[in-house]
Amino acid sequence: QPPPACPHSTPTPPRPPEPDLFTWEFASDPYPAYAWLREYAPVRWTELPSGVEAWLVTRYADAREALAEQRLSKNPAHHDEPAHARGRTGIPGERKAELMTHLLNIDPPDHTRLRRLVSKAFTPRRVAAFAPRVQELTDQLIDRFAEKGEADLIHEFAFPLPIYAICDLLGVPREDQDDFRDWAGMMIRHGGGPRGGVARSVKKMRGYLAELIHRKRADPGDDLISGLIRASDHGEHLTENEAAAMAFILLFAGFETTVNLIGNGTYALLTHPEQRERLQRSLAAGDTALLETGVEELLRYDGPVELATWRFATEPLRIGGQDIAAGDPVLVVLAAADRDPARFAEPDLLDLSRRDNQHLGYGHGIHYCLGAPLARLEGQTALATLLRRLPDLQLGAPPGELRWRGGLIMRGLRTLPVRFTPP
Ligand code: HEM
Repeated sequence: QPPPACPHSTPTPPRPPEPDLFTWEFASDPYPAYAWLREYAPVRWTELPSGVEAWLVTRYADAREALAEQRLSKNPAHHDEPAHARGRTGIPGERKAELMTHLLNIDPPDHTRLRRLVSKAFTPRRVAAFAPRVQELTDQLIDRFAEKGEADLIHEFAFPLPIYAICDLLGVPREDQDDFRDWAGMMIRHGGGPRGGVARSVKKMRGYLAELIHRKRADPGDDLISGLIRASDHGEHLTENEAAAMAFILLFAGFETTVNLIGNGTYALLTHPEQRERLQRSLAAGDTALLETGVEELLRYDGPVELATWRFATEPLRIGGQDIAAGDPVLVVLAAADRDPARFAEPDLLDLSRRDNQHLGYGHGIHYCLGAPLARLEGQTALATLLRRLPDLQLGAPPGELRWRGGLIMRGLRTLPVRFTPP
């Protein structure tokens, strides 16, 4: 005879089955799986597609803490990795020591020194002065496809804009920028695997940058590379290797991220017509407040960086109640943290005017995105100009047919077909 059910107890709902990560469905919409992890396994030991195992941190409070945790090192030398996984936690194709000493691979005090030096050259003032050039580039790219009434916004717009922008800012001459576009294209298409083409592209880029730095030293200009060479702090300068690694990380960190901000952001607007109309109305009235909060909300809602870059425990520690051993890799899932209902009201809702929006899309702590002012400038200019010049812009394929890149760190579309009435 079973005991009578207690009238005051509510039955605990059964735990839904654990979702598969890193499948096609996951790549197109990882948010349900992240909701499961946040709820049932917020710090989860997981095998990644590359075979490397790591802790995934998905709750906002834990994520923020982990990003600021000094016992989590960015130096891959701290990775207690099995031999088969060695070298799979860096930028694809980037193996040479010279380029490895960049900001995302080092800790204080080296990080503090290099970041201070680059901040002297890559200033908010330099970015603000660059605004007219970003607008010009944006208009030129739209001019190239406007007559057709259709386009693939990834290949024809989101992809070239950041690469030309960062090349201009660094001081790569215009006639060499298409080479950069091709090398970067190779890295983005085949990122995630140590393929020959990626390694060759990285090698060419490295050789080119070394020579460019050499030339700028002899004949400095008004560009960022010349600024990096000139920057000094207490008599210290960047060495040539450090300057090359810095130029490389600026390119690498500032490229695919911005492609995805424009791609994911446009896609989110086109699939949320009421938000898009709101933004179009406010832009037509000459008001940019909604554009500014809106780009931040697009970063929170479906940001370019799904997981922050690799971190490794230098000693045993606890995150979210979970013991982490020295040498363990830790991946902070920004996309999961930024949809945490414990931090954001109605986190799955896109609200361009969201005010309480301290999202982690640009990271947190000492590695907080150095290029955030440039990314904001490019994102705001690109989205506002698209909506102004192509007011009836719409998706050219049903959302279910769009394919997302299944990379690990980044989240973005492979293609974004659109239609519009030619102006
Ligand atoms: C760091 C996001 C654009 C340069 C980071 C980090 C994130 C991020 C999340 C921290 C990674 C970590 O802690 O593991 C983004 C997003 C962008 C963007 C979402 C576009 C929407 C840019 C641009 C540049 C740039 C345009 C430069 C031109 C950097 C650099 C770091 C960094 C150099 C390393 C900073 C350090 O370690 O001190 N970014 N980024 N980023 N970002 Fe960005």
